[in-house]
Amino acid sequence: MENYKDEKHRQWADKVYQKICQKMEAQTRRVGTDIPYIPENGRYRDMGKEGIHWWTNGFWSGILWQMFHATGEELYKDTARGVEKRLDQALDHYSGLDHDAGFIWLHAAVADYRLTGDEEAKERGLKAAGALASRFNPAGQYLCAWNGNRPGHMIIDCLMNTPLLFWATRETKDPRFALMAERHIDTALKYIVREDGSCNHIVVLDPLTGEFVDNPGGQGYEQGSSWSRGQAWALYGFLLAFQYTGKKQYQDASKRVAHYFLANAALTDYVPLLDFRAPLEPVYYDTTAGAIAACGLLALAETVGEYEKNLYQTGAIKLLRAIEERHCNWNFDEDAIVDFGSAKYHRESDREVPIIYGDYFFIEGILRLVEKSFLIW
Ligand code: GLY
Repeated sequence: MENYKDEKHRQWADKVYQKICQKMEAQTRRVGTDIPYIPENGRYRDMGKEGIHWWTNGFWSGILWQMFHATGEELYKDTARGVEKRLDQALDHYSGLDHDAGFIWLHAAVADYRLTGDEEAKERGLKAAGALASRFNPAGQYLCAWNGNRPGHMIIDCLMNTPLLFWATRETKDPRFALMAERHIDTALKYIVREDGSCNHIVVLDPLTGEFVDNPGGQGYEQGSSWSRGQAWALYGFLLAFQYTGKKQYQDASKRVAHYFLANAALTDYVPLLDFRAPLEPVYYDTTAGAIAACGLLALAETVGEYEKNLYQTGAIKLLRAIEERHCNWNFDEDAIVDFGSAKYHRESDREVPIIYGDYFFIEGILRLVEKSFLIW
């Protein structure tokens, strides 16, 4: 039987880690404090110039801090600090901020503070947490996702932003941040996760009364479908919620989504479809969903008993190996490692392309396997 204890997996992960080190060193020297998103012809453009508030703008910092933690190389720390300062442009412009303050500053300032104790970084983190907390809607008990006259929208992705609030409560000893996070997570459990372990992407609540309005389609195929990255956010996000609160219902939700995710991913040899409930043709993949789910599964495995671990650990290894065997670019002269990531079902330009968060989660997953990761979330 396949099992995670097999030495061949560890040897494989060690080799991949060596390649990550070589490629990230070359890429860091080339990209520096530019903020990557999707490369064109092997080169990243600078999202810092195109949209400083864009939700993915923290992932390069996350990679840099993970690499600093794993290797101790100052190059990564110095570059990450440069990016952190650039992101002040976003933090100082409140009306551009949305719920993705978590994705951005957990990877930038909070990671810096956790690793180095830098006080300026802590202040930035708390400011970001304040901005996220200001999005809490008490009538519906949720964190409002976006700006642009959508005050009733909450989305599954936001589970990954809530650790910023749990962190702020730990730092300030003020429970308000964590209370808002928990209320939001409970609302997500009520309206976003379906009984069979699949998930909606979006729920719209009445922002004045909190009543349910609709579950419209999101970045997947259509309303009622099953956007695979959304399922991966749920798997990992509920597990993080369990780790912060100890509430078993969150761990159970993570398991339910994990079982559903693995059953679907097995049908396509562990490179997940972009949407698990879309027409059989055309076939679109999303490696980012596989990488995120793998990290969630590795975290989940740490929270269960000995005889339960194998399902999650081996599932995670299969997802990461499928990416490495079929969709990695190890040319050190080109930016980005993981190809075949998809931002959205109905937009051709960013379907089956390398995307910065695919690299972040692939790297986090491999670092977890070689026991060199630290918890950014
Ligand atoms: N948080 C947006 C996405 O996953 O594409």
